[in-house]
Amino acid sequence: MARRTVTDQRSFQKPLLTADLTGKVIIITGANTGLGLESAKHFAKMNPLKIILTSRDEKKGNAALSKLIEETNFQRAEVWALDLNSFESVKQFADKTAQLERLDFLVANAGIGDSENYTVTEDGWQSAIQVNNLSQELLALLLLPKMLETANRFGVFVRLVVVSSGGHVRVKEYEPELLNATNIHETLSSKEYFDLPGKKSTYYTMTKLLNVLFARALSNRSSSSFIAVSLNPGFCFSELRRNMSPGQLEQTAIMDEEYGLTGEEGGSNIVYGVTAGHGNPKEEEKLRGQYIAWANVEEPSDFVMSEKGHAMENRVWDETVQILTKIDARVGEIIKEYLH
Ligand SMILES: NC(=O)c1ccc[n+]([C@@H]2O[C@H](COP(=O)([O-])OP(=O)(O)OC[C@H]3O[C@@H](n4cnc5c(N)ncnc54)[C@H](OP(=O)(O)O)[C@@H]3O)[C@@H](O)[C@H]2O)c1
Repeated sequence: MARRTVTDQRSFQKPLLTADLTGKVIIITGANTGLGLESAKHFAKMNPLKIILTSRDEKKGNAALSKLIEETNFQRAEVWALDLNSFESVKQFADKTAQLERLDFLVANAGIGDSENYTVTEDGWQSAIQVNNLSQELLALLLLPKMLETANRFGVFVRLVVVSSGGHVRVKEYEPELLNATNIHETLSSKEYFDLPGKKSTYYTMTKLLNVLFARALSNRSSSSFIAVSLNPGFCFSELRRNMSPGQLEQTAIMDEEYGLTGEEGGSNIVYGVTAGHGNPKEEEKLRGQYIAWANVEEPSDFVMSEKGHAMENRVWDETVQILTKIDARVGEIIKEYLH
């Protein structure tokens, strides 16, 4: 597994990989701040037909839109409401995409970092596992028909970019609590698990490992012009640390100081997930299910590549489908019709 050291992070200087996105429609979740907004600013300079910035807060969304327009003069961006704490909001958002002429790229970027506090969404899931995983997986699956319709109608590849993290390598193996659990998601979501020693500070990396597994599992079940990749944007300045404990904040402040990338650089790494191989079917095909880091295709963690990791990937996929089909019956139908 290729793994970046502090020195690599410090010396990272890949130029932005641009592409001609004329006519393309991009949705970026969690784009009112941080890397989502920075990536939107980069995309805005590549002439897409439309960029949809999602935000759960109208005011923050509009402020982000104003910034985007001010800095890029791009006039075809819109803010759409999406609260990932709510499956209902995801469904409403997905329904609204019926009005789009096409959908080429979904950048599943929104995320929450580690928190000291155990919080539960209105749907009863621990917040990070719903926001970082289940809600965006639901969104990706509900949007799959639209994306495939785009692929077929316009003869292009369409792409899901799941923004994960290099931190996923910190999960060396699923712990016995999860490995032996009847349901990994439910166990991970429980207060009992959260309260176990050391879990609060590794919870985020666990959700980011699930990001990598989901992108791989989805890709393995699709042989069409739809590809999914997972991506590490690098360790960057953003608002991600807002709920961290004082101890974690102190630690990350030192890391930020030592080798943190700017949001703009992190955003350019996300852009790579969309623009790499763009318009070249052979190159796009090569990206199916891959993990991207440092503007390169890299191997994900040893665990992901291991037999155990592969078994976990299938188990996590089966659970995800089961959970999401209960939330929205269309998920089961979509999987039957579009995946194998
Ligand atoms: N920064 C890093 O060093 C780093 C490293 C590796 C990976 N990443 C990944 O990069 C992605 C972007 O993170 P970032 O660093 O840009 O963090 P950020 O500045 O905190 O931005 C996160 C975005 O997600 C949104 N979000 C959070 N909860 C949401 C919810 N319930 N519903 C809808 N949107 C929600 C936030 O909206 P609000 O403002 O309304 O909360 C915000 O727009 C994440 O997936 C993160 O895991 C970041």
